Amino acid sequence: MCGIVAYLGNKQALPLILSGLRKLEYRGYDSAGVALMFDNEIVVRKTAGKVSDLEALLGSNGYDKDANIGFGHTRWATHGEPNDTNAHPVFDDNNEIVVIHNGIIENYKVLKTRLEREGYQFRTDTDTECLVHLIRSHYKNVMDFETAVRLALAEVDGTYGMCVLSKFEPDKIIAARRGSPLVLGVGEDEYIIASDATAIIPHTRQVLYLLDGEMVIVTRNKFEIKTIHDEKIERELEVITFDLEEIEKGGYEHFMLKEINEQPDSITNTMRGRIIKDNGLVKLGGLINVTEKLKYAPRIIISACGTAWHAGLVGEYMIEQMCKIPVEVEYASEFRYRNPVLYPNDIMFVISQSGETADTLAALKEAKSRGADVYGIVNVVGSTIARETHAGVYTHAGPEIGVASTKAFTSQLTGLALISLMIAQYRNSLPHDEIKKITDELLRIPDKIKQILALNDQILEIARIFKFCQHMLYLGRGYNFPVALEGALKLKEISYIHAEGYPAAEMKHGPIALIDQNMPVIFIAPKDSTYEKIISNIREVKARKGVVITITDFDSDGPSEEYSDYIIKIPHTLEMLSPILTTIPLQMFAYHLAVLRGCNVDQPRNLAKSVTVE
Ligand code: G6P
Repeated sequence: MCGIVAYLGNKQALPLILSGLRKLEYRGYDSAGVALMFDNEIVVRKTAGKVSDLEALLGSNGYDKDANIGFGHTRWATHGEPNDTNAHPVFDDNNEIVVIHNGIIENYKVLKTRLEREGYQFRTDTDTECLVHLIRSHYKNVMDFETAVRLALAEVDGTYGMCVLSKFEPDKIIAARRGSPLVLGVGEDEYIIASDATAIIPHTRQVLYLLDGEMVIVTRNKFEIKTIHDEKIERELEVITFDLEEIEKGGYEHFMLKEINEQPDSITNTMRGRIIKDNGLVKLGGLINVTEKLKYAPRIIISACGTAWHAGLVGEYMIEQMCKIPVEVEYASEFRYRNPVLYPNDIMFVISQSGETADTLAALKEAKSRGADVYGIVNVVGSTIARETHAGVYTHAGPEIGVASTKAFTSQLTGLALISLMIAQYRNSLPHDEIKKITDELLRIPDKIKQILALNDQILEIARIFKFCQHMLYLGRGYNFPVALEGALKLKEISYIHAEGYPAAEMKHGPIALIDQNMPVIFIAPKDSTYEKIISNIREVKARKGVVITITDFDSDGPSEEYSDYIIKIPHTLEMLSPILTTIPLQMFAYHLAVLRGCNVDQPRNLAKSVTVE
């Protein structure tokens, strides 16, 4: 978490840093700050709150001096509450060295005790502060900025994406990475370092992704990549291909709304070139080299966090049904710490929008260290998870900025459908005409999503009715049980209404006790193999005076209409693809409810889009 932007060039650094920070606010937004290098003086301004609060602070201080070297930080607090003092950048005792940091210094207590003994005074509650004192302490001995940073990093346990400036060598920025992403942008006579490329592309498309254990030393007209053990690294620059418009709001009030509406296109992009026109079969270039492994896999483990984990649950149903391979879906954070048993030839898929989630990355590494092949389903091209996996599939949903994941989720589902179909082809576990039927239907999904998006006014009206509710239950069965979990998560994340997702039949084993006229229940009930059963569950809720909202499809006239207080009808699709459609009205419902309640949907409290700490 936390967003980092650093600039060294000929332009005024401050506006550039601030605009970069605004793009990175999805990574954290509880405090923000900048450090600027003037003639031998480093000036730091920082505050609790968002980048807009920092801008207000800078404005009210008439802060308009010129500086063309500096950096900024937008924080998601781990150590120390989000107040002005704990905001980054963090100075050393003499205000001569300053650091911004994304990650966690795990051995900060030990380091802090030692540094306090050496006489350093800690002014913040952050773990980051020990890093800056440590650099200072080494600098006193070696009198060389780069060596001091290197020696300090060698003592640090934990994760960092960090940048440091020093008054002693004012024309230099040093940045280093272990576990938290950093990208270097190389422009004409200027360099930008940022947590991700979105802050860089307004200025240059030439980038270099730092790998773990690497640092970059940027001076005027020159940059050097080294390991933190001082070994030189030569690596070609890469060129970013996505456009700026893709990460701007494009006339929508919120990124989340834009991203919900982009789903017909994002799903089309996930499928592009992957369904063979003539025969309807699936071809995924990123998995071609591991065909044999997939064909004979005795078991597949899917690991992910948050929304991506929900996608994994749908993937479990798909793969088991179509490929007849047992699948286990694991929270990445649990998998890595419970000494998992892996059989030879087990395959793990990790799913991640950002490709940077620390727990998912750790699960991936754990599985790799136990000899498993790990394949990725990742959205961000070039991200750490994409690089660490043996093979994989990009979802190509485009940049997702809203903290609550929407289009990334439906692209993950689409990617999982394609992967299941391709494995089924290899294994001959599904007849060719069945596969073709499914891929034909997949190609119709974008148009069906457009029909759901056209229900916006109806969904807004239903949201108005529930504006003041405090709890909500989401129930689904089979393929739509994970959708119930995802619908509830969306509502919690952005509207702060307590919501729970449950398998509909499990309701009678507990949640039914909660049902009364104040408990709205959303049923996800398309006409599929569990339809009749879920109708019984709807009736059970109505019998207890619960308020029922049903998401169903055009085909299912009858019982759901009769027993539902509100009904949202969406186009019908194949059962295995239905989560891609049923999710959409739930996203729209959560969005409208949150907006009606005055919540900041793109930046919900306490959350961050990319969680690069454990
Ligand atoms: C955070 C985000 C979620 C996301 C999860 C996993 O919690 O707020 O929206 O689902 O991380 O992120 P990933 O980038 O790995 O998909």
